[in-house]
Amino acid sequence: MDQATRGVLKVARSVLEQLDVEQVLERVLDAARELTGARYAALGVLDESRDGLARFLTRGIDEEQRREIGSLPTGRGVLGELIRNPVPLRLEDVGSHRYSYGFPVGHPPMSSFLGVPIMVRGEPYGNLYLTEKDSGQAFTQDDEEGAMLLADFAGVAIDHARRFSGFESQRLQLERTVQALDATIQIARAVGGETDLAAILELVAKRGRALVSAKMLIIELLHGDELELAAGAGDLPRGLLGQRVPLENTVASAALRAGQTQRLTDRLMRARFEQHGIGNLGLTATDGLVVPLVFRNHPYGVLVALDHLGQGAFDVEHERLLESLAASAATAVATAQSAADERHRQRVAAAEAERSRWARELHDETLQALGSLRLILSTAQRSGDAERMRAAVGQGLEQLELDITTLRSLITELRPTALDQLGLEAALTALIDRARRSGLEVDAEVRLAYEDGRAGERLAGELETTVYRIVQEALTNAGKHGEATRITVAVVEEEAALHVAVSDDGRGFDPGATTSGFGLEGMRERVELLGGQVSVQSVPQEGTSVVATLPVTRRPAADASGGASPAQPSSPRSRA
Ligand SMILES: Nc1ncnc2c1ncn2[C@@H]1O[C@H](COP(=O)(O)OP(=O)(O)O)[C@@H](O)[C@H]1O
Ligand SMILES: [Mg+2]
Repeated sequence: MDQATRGVLKVARSVLEQLDVEQVLERVLDAARELTGARYAALGVLDESRDGLARFLTRGIDEEQRREIGSLPTGRGVLGELIRNPVPLRLEDVGSHRYSYGFPVGHPPMSSFLGVPIMVRGEPYGNLYLTEKDSGQAFTQDDEEGAMLLADFAGVAIDHARRFSGFESQRLQLERTVQALDATIQIARAVGGETDLAAILELVAKRGRALVSAKMLIIELLHGDELELAAGAGDLPRGLLGQRVPLENTVASAALRAGQTQRLTDRLMRARFEQHGIGNLGLTATDGLVVPLVFRNHPYGVLVALDHLGQGAFDVEHERLLESLAASAATAVATAQSAADERHRQRVAAAEAERSRWARELHDETLQALGSLRLILSTAQRSGDAERMRAAVGQGLEQLELDITTLRSLITELRPTALDQLGLEAALTALIDRARRSGLEVDAEVRLAYEDGRAGERLAGELETTVYRIVQEALTNAGKHGEATRITVAVVEEEAALHVAVSDDGRGFDPGATTSGFGLEGMRERVELLGGQVSVQSVPQEGTSVVATLPVTRRPAADASGGASPAQPSSPRSRA
């Protein structure tokens, strides 16, 4: 169990034990610091008129500092801005904000700032303030979303604590709130840490189902005018997930249009359920909640909870819990989908760059050769002299022979079959052998985890191709431009990084100078698209070295066929 999870459980336990607003506030402060890495955290509680602060709780400031600062803020300046306008506020430097009054004497320096409102039953209750992110950088979008989820939870917990404090019999209600906090924070962390949508949705489905004791919980995602049954938990018929249904006339479409949870006990909704959407796939239910997944006014789908397992039906409390879960789930889906879009964009860009590289290569090598062939033949033809014609045809045939060889090697380069079929190590060995046959002395070290039996799966297709192209380009350049005699090649895979280095003893060049070549540029593009780094160093008359470091990514376990890495994400994995 990591520290943050322990922190969450501590909050949970204390809420259960204390039923006390004070305790809730204190725990939320700690959890907020932990989640965002803020050095200081504070929680301001609004006064009755809601235009100032009645209380101000802090973390990270000791007694002595507190005495030095003197009176606590009452809610003017930047804090006042958050009171007047309760939306998240994220600043790189709080002191330079237009509402800032500056800090009182003795106040520790603070620059990065994140403030989010805490609402209780839809009414402003206070604000959560975080300052001085530990990395010395500004707070991120993830921090903001994490803090907002926590503020949402604080609102629910404060409401509970107010309403139920002292009533032992309401312990169950509270337990649910605690579970909701736990689920919320788990999801917040999953969203921050990764963007594997399938895994996140599975987590949401499982936690959601447990939270409201539903027989099943299904997450439907919107794709144009269809809903995809993207994830689910509980007693689901086989083959249900992955199916798509038309959005039209479904309960989901009503929920999304109204922006409100719909109940299957409603007569109209029941009719929709029975005739359209998932009800049409053979699912039956006597009760159900259909909650819209909306993030920043954009609809992403719905959470559907079917049939309550305990005695009685779903109640308003279940509805509220599911709605708070839906808020974090929608954030998760939005984040993951924008990441997937970004990956798609990058793949398209890489393919585009690749195509233009080959267009250039074909232009330079083949088109130029054909041009000179035409020149030879047409000059001879114009002369009208039989002897010259015969000589030109002979020369032309020779030229053609050469062009065919060039074209053939271009085609082999375009798709290195050795890489596909035999893997990276064998393909690199073949490259190095070819360089040796052309007269270069090559020292090579290739250590790859899969080939050495340290890893179960091959490297991702894009990564293999990139490493191959770096070595290929560097070897070609060393021979062609550097006229090198000795080259060392090292391709070494460590835990999370792959290091590639190719050094030659050739004549070197000025890497800062712009050239018309595309080799080094293409190398940089490929490496950057994979999130790696490359540097080219060269000293005239001493040699050139190309050094790259790339993050290790592997093919999913199922794909043993080779080729490019699959576009589909791996199947949902359990995270529980
Ligand atoms: N190993 C090397 N030794 C000497 N010069 C090099 C080396 N690698 C690259 N260069 C120089 O950098 C230029 C750009 O290289 P590159 O981008 O691969 O383009 P291209 O090979 O198509 O000319 C080359 O034209 C050459 O002048
Ligand atoms: Mg080159």
